[in-house]
Amino acid sequence: MTKFSFLEIQSRAIELRKVLQRYSYEYYVLDTPTMEDTVYDALYRELQTIEVEYPQLITADSPTQRVGEKPTTQFFSVQHNISLYSLDNAFASSDVTTWQERCQKGLDRRIFLDSVCELKIDGSAIALTYENGILVRGATRGDGTSGEDITTNIKTIRSIPLRLNLENPPDRLEIRGEAFLPIAVFEAINQERSQQGEALFANPRNAAAGTLRQLDSRKVDKRRLDFFAYTIHLPSPLGRGAGGEGNPQSQWQALEFLQTIGFRVNPNKKLCKSIQELQDYYDYWSTERLKLPYMTDGMVIKINTFSQQEQLGFTQRTPRWAIAWKYPAEEMPTIIEAVTVQVGRTGTLTPVAELRPVLLAGTTVSRATLHNSDRLAELDLHIGDTAIVRKAGEIIPEVVRILPELRPYGATRFVMPTHCPECGQPVLKPENEAATRCINLECPAIVRGAIEYWVSRDAMDINGVGEKLVKQLVTENHITSIADLYDLTSEQLQTLDRLGQKSADKVVAAIAQSKIKPWARVLYGLGIRHVGSVNAQTIADNFPNVELLTNASPEAIASIFGIGEEIAQSIYEWFRKDANQNLVQRLQASGLQFVGEKKDNRAIAINPNIAGKIFVVTGTLPTLKRDEAKDLIKFAGGKVTDSVSKKTNYLVVGEEAGSKLEKAQSLGVECISEEDLLNLIK
Ligand code: IVH
Repeated sequence: MTKFSFLEIQSRAIELRKVLQRYSYEYYVLDTPTMEDTVYDALYRELQTIEVEYPQLITADSPTQRVGEKPTTQFFSVQHNISLYSLDNAFASSDVTTWQERCQKGLDRRIFLDSVCELKIDGSAIALTYENGILVRGATRGDGTSGEDITTNIKTIRSIPLRLNLENPPDRLEIRGEAFLPIAVFEAINQERSQQGEALFANPRNAAAGTLRQLDSRKVDKRRLDFFAYTIHLPSPLGRGAGGEGNPQSQWQALEFLQTIGFRVNPNKKLCKSIQELQDYYDYWSTERLKLPYMTDGMVIKINTFSQQEQLGFTQRTPRWAIAWKYPAEEMPTIIEAVTVQVGRTGTLTPVAELRPVLLAGTTVSRATLHNSDRLAELDLHIGDTAIVRKAGEIIPEVVRILPELRPYGATRFVMPTHCPECGQPVLKPENEAATRCINLECPAIVRGAIEYWVSRDAMDINGVGEKLVKQLVTENHITSIADLYDLTSEQLQTLDRLGQKSADKVVAAIAQSKIKPWARVLYGLGIRHVGSVNAQTIADNFPNVELLTNASPEAIASIFGIGEEIAQSIYEWFRKDANQNLVQRLQASGLQFVGEKKDNRAIAINPNIAGKIFVVTGTLPTLKRDEAKDLIKFAGGKVTDSVSKKTNYLVVGEEAGSKLEKAQSLGVECISEEDLLNLIK
């Protein structure tokens, strides 16, 4: 094999970084990827391998440096180089006209001053500092003059470049923008928190702020924060001429410039030339914004030309050249007429407030979630109470708080039922969990939920079997489990309301069709807690049949890259239940796929010496290539990481092992040879 010189390896690392950075930009900023994920992953791993071997080659802008290895203990306060201002608010179009006229007056002009409209993203303002084109600091807004240094967390945001795409970057440059959480991520976080009995985040903004102040950047990384840039502070001159003529001269140009140097800029901007255009933008987004995957609470209008902005200047707190035009509150008071309790697929009881209908964020809302019994207790909710209800974007309406002063005399407090409203069996409320659960596996609500999940799009995708049909089938005792679907006959279906022979035949055919759906989908469809479609795919790739998965230890399952202990435990427990074993057997007998198409022909062979253990491989091994050794370990159920820590169980040492060996020795990590490894694996 050709031996590369250090210089060659160094230049390979530089080129790899460039390619990976360009790909990230295309993927996260432009949303038009040009490279297969697998290619990206392979190049990323190549860079990682080089950096492990030659730590002196690691640079601050390397994509491998986005996530820290260990949590920070605290965040330090930092002074902003340029203060972060807030914005004046407008609530009516007359406020906007007054503002525009004031600006015209300030500039001694009588014509409309071109203005840029941007969406006001509801997240956390962030200040980024780049020195010589490299991200050196990310800080929260704080009080505007000083904030907290959260660089480690900021680096996890893939749409924030670690190196600017600028040929001759200035010594220092400042970027401002909004970090935010997509609504779907916010909902997933809250759902998880609710299951764990933790306090819920009130909205995506709070969740984003909470995430940014999380001490462990690995956790931040999982939350998939995103960022829209909207301000750039450039030193002048930067551009072509001595006076910096190449610099953006207006907000419109600045937004374009931001995008070319590597930032994600919100595409829903508009350069307006009249009050009417401002109004049109406002009207259009008042409803369209509800379809966006992130939250907006209004629009920001900025006088476009920088020279005009400069002349207008700032007040103590806000720029005179910009204003925020907010959408009306999405919180409204209404009366709670009753509380009903829903039982979900997993048996969780969710209290729901039945409301006097109220118009909120463009829709009439008559029900709102109360989440769980802990939340109910916190609210101290009584029937007849006046409650503040919130509806934001796609978020399920929820009761934010109660106005106890408006409580009717003699109102009764609502308490969670002690018995399941669906099956009448006693419910369970573990001390350390917020959720109350029905644990009767035959509860019709749980059966219905399991079947609805099984037939859903990402699982078996069975057309024609919707919520209504499932309800009827379960209520009339035609089915009591997923497996019963496969015994349904057309005649049986024809006895149901409004189902003719043709439709009944179609349903039977659609159910039969699901028998060819791949093993990963079957696994997902079983509805095991924490096993979403992505996890199901990963697990199915690693456990090519259900027998291997059934017999796997939690450690073996958790040793799969990307699968955490909680998921592993949940799978392990699921397969320990007789009812679930029985279900699998019946589905297997009906011909469903419990065997995957293998990517790798070798069957996984979980080895108790290796499973769940963490290995690092270093140096040149006598017979195996390092990658071969790593594959062997993974194949036997072990985990391979790149750096030695207290958690490492074994360091496999070859010749010319360097700093890793020293570190392992200082931490007391067991060091073994290739031969020892092969013996363990045997
Ligand atoms: S411009 C001096 N543009 O709104 C310029 N702010 O209420 C000040 N925000 O603290 C900011 N989207 O966190 C601007 N497109 C946008 C924005 C935006 C959201 C936030 C920002 C600011 C707050 C002021």
